[in-house]
Amino acid sequence: MKTRIQEKFKTLFGKEGQLYMSSGRINLIGEHTDYNGGYVFPGAINFGIMAAIEPNGLNKVKVYSLDYDEYVEFGLNEEDKPDQAWARYIFGVCRETIKRGGKVQGFNAVFAGDVPLGAGLSSSAALESVFAFAINEINGNGIDKFELARIGQSTEHNYCGVKCGIMDQFASIFGKEGALMRLNCKTGEYKYFPFHPKGYKLVLIDSCVKHELASSAYNKRRESCENAAAAIRKNHPEVEFLSDAKRLWLDEVRDQIPEEDFLRAEYVIGEVQRVLDVCDALERDDYETVGEMMYQTHFGLSRLYEVSCEELDFLNKLARKMDVTGSRVMGGGFGGCTINLVKEELYDAFIGAAKEQFTAKFGHAPKVYDVVISDGARKL
Ligand code: GLA
Repeated sequence: MKTRIQEKFKTLFGKEGQLYMSSGRINLIGEHTDYNGGYVFPGAINFGIMAAIEPNGLNKVKVYSLDYDEYVEFGLNEEDKPDQAWARYIFGVCRETIKRGGKVQGFNAVFAGDVPLGAGLSSSAALESVFAFAINEINGNGIDKFELARIGQSTEHNYCGVKCGIMDQFASIFGKEGALMRLNCKTGEYKYFPFHPKGYKLVLIDSCVKHELASSAYNKRRESCENAAAAIRKNHPEVEFLSDAKRLWLDEVRDQIPEEDFLRAEYVIGEVQRVLDVCDALERDDYETVGEMMYQTHFGLSRLYEVSCEELDFLNKLARKMDVTGSRVMGGGFGGCTINLVKEELYDAFIGAAKEQFTAKFGHAPKVYDVVISDGARKL
């Protein structure tokens, strides 16, 4: 990837550029909890986006995407928003940096990545993070890492139409080799947990299903949660986010909110607790409990939060049938991957069966990614 990027950079701009890199992410547990002020437990992975970048002395960004084989130029003012969806992520990062008082001088860039698109591995956060990190360095802005993650998040909100939480950008910026991170999304406190499950493998199975309306459905889930939190707050003013609510408090407002919102909130309140339980279990090397919690999360995401789909439920059911330790839909949902914690001796049989049975049922093969927990945003 390095060579391809530098060759293209040289062809377009006459010399090589400085390389930066950032990563996609997995999340062991804690799904749809981030925008509810709850806990998440992600880690950066060995799939990422790499970019060569150099200031160009102009008031303009010139950028080439190797994967889309497309070149785009844009200015740095609000009205200069480019048409190409991929370029809007970079434009958004520039704008959000400027809004925070950061300097952004024009630059040339070439980038490429190997984060599968639409698989729920946060290719967009990797793209935002690599540019947020590089622009901060190049311009000497000194913006702290958490704010760099927020720059990516605000880019999604203000330039891409997704009201996402902070998990993906946090993971992409803060990721560390061999460690998962438990983040309290309300306070911003986080802790690294070394993750080396001896005798187990962490594998993703990509259903290769992508749902068109995923971002509007995502925003709708968020609204349901906010609606439930607002109802609870009337009785319990200390509830700032849904994650502050006790299960009992949700029951008190059951007949005041749509049943759908109740179910969404029921899932979230349970999920926040599961993250804590998984972290405790990990400290005891108790992978059976970790896995059981993953199955519970899948159940909640499928039946209460309703962000799974037939293909993902099928993979989850197969995992259960084959005694895989843990399995669940990962990320925003509406397609994408399951994350599976599998005993090493079961790995080949499980992957073989998943490929064969999935293909027989749905007419296309799933993809399999062995993930390694890796470093996040960095200069190479
Ligand atoms: C997407 C969002 C995240 C998070 C997850 C679900 O990846 O970008 O902020 O909400 O979905 O956990």
